[in-house]
Amino acid sequence: MLRAAIVGCSGYTALEAALLLSAHPEVKISAATSRQADGSTLADMHPRLTGKTTLPVENLSPAEIAERSDVAFCCLPHAASAPIVSAILDAGCRVIDLSADYRLSTPSLYEHWYGEQHPDPGRLGQTPYGMPELFRDRLADTNLVANPGCYPTSAIVPLTPLVRENLVESQVIVDSKSGVSGAGRSPKLGTLYCETNESISPYSVGTHRHQGEMVDIIERSTSTKLDIIFTPHLVPMHRGILSTIYVRTKGGATANQIRECLATAYQDEPFVRVVPHLPATRYVSGTNYCDISVRENGDWVIILCAIDNLIKGASGAAVQCMNLMFEFDETTALL
Ligand SMILES: NC(=O)c1ccc[n+]([C@@H]2O[C@H](COP(=O)([O-])OP(=O)(O)OC[C@H]3O[C@@H](n4cnc5c(N)ncnc54)[C@H](OP(=O)(O)O)[C@@H]3O)[C@@H](O)[C@H]2O)c1
Repeated sequence: MLRAAIVGCSGYTALEAALLLSAHPEVKISAATSRQADGSTLADMHPRLTGKTTLPVENLSPAEIAERSDVAFCCLPHAASAPIVSAILDAGCRVIDLSADYRLSTPSLYEHWYGEQHPDPGRLGQTPYGMPELFRDRLADTNLVANPGCYPTSAIVPLTPLVRENLVESQVIVDSKSGVSGAGRSPKLGTLYCETNESISPYSVGTHRHQGEMVDIIERSTSTKLDIIFTPHLVPMHRGILSTIYVRTKGGATANQIRECLATAYQDEPFVRVVPHLPATRYVSGTNYCDISVRENGDWVIILCAIDNLIKGASGAAVQCMNLMFEFDETTALL
């Protein structure tokens, strides 16, 4: 059995990773770490895991994590993650990092979007982005995966084939709505019930870090730099992302051609569905699916994409990457 550690086990992505890994026939969760280790178990921390695990929560060092594990899912905030990831890697354990720390291509991009120096700059640009649909051939042999961001997944998956086929102009508008779990489990004023319920609010308009990730990864995959305007919104629901993407097509390409391009690009992908209906978060909730649909409006084509931020936008993608890294069937334990 493959031994998998969950680092930062008290958060939302960690819970989803634990649920998926506990259903995986080839994996045993070997360690669960938190700074809040007080003799409780993983199931005490997340009662949904009751009956699935009796694992204690411990405050382990990177060396102890590596000794007990073949792979570590690091579910920590950016900046806190890189020093721990780097120490676990140095101790000989493979890592899937769910934070943003290893996603961008250069230290200067990281500094621009995260406002601080990267704690482990040497691995930036060397680390594969954990999106099998674009970088599958880089994932089998790597010791470290940079798991994608949730909003970026909902934009990069639909846009990349269109950019590669030169079907869209470079100016693109991405308007996204996310459930509140996207902000993590740590309490913050802006995610309190009374702040979010019965209200939809934009945030980080023109400045959200995921805009940089979308542009960087699409450029890495296609050698074309898009000019993306990205506006995220918080909506009063637990989970899910719906992104509405506005593009102008090149050379008179129609919505049908855009749809055909996406259908062809993803015909063999187990988790990308180009669907005839309008996507909705409820159709993908709790699954690793990314649903995409295309509509026309005058000179514009509108692409709609729905994912579960905690599954395809985080822990489902991480398990999909783990399956590829350890040569399991790519879909194991994923709906
Ligand atoms: N939520 C999403 O939809 C989503 C999607 C994609 C990617 N991500 C990324 O995945 C990572 C985890 O997200 P999440 O939503 O699970 O966050 P979360 O619910 O806030 O959990 C993060 C965990 O990290 C630990 N932690 C916090 N600060 C730390 C520090 N300075 N040093 C060590 N441990 C620390 C905490 O554990 P203890 O306090 O118990 O030690 C906490 O439980 C983040 O980088 C996030 O950006 C999240």
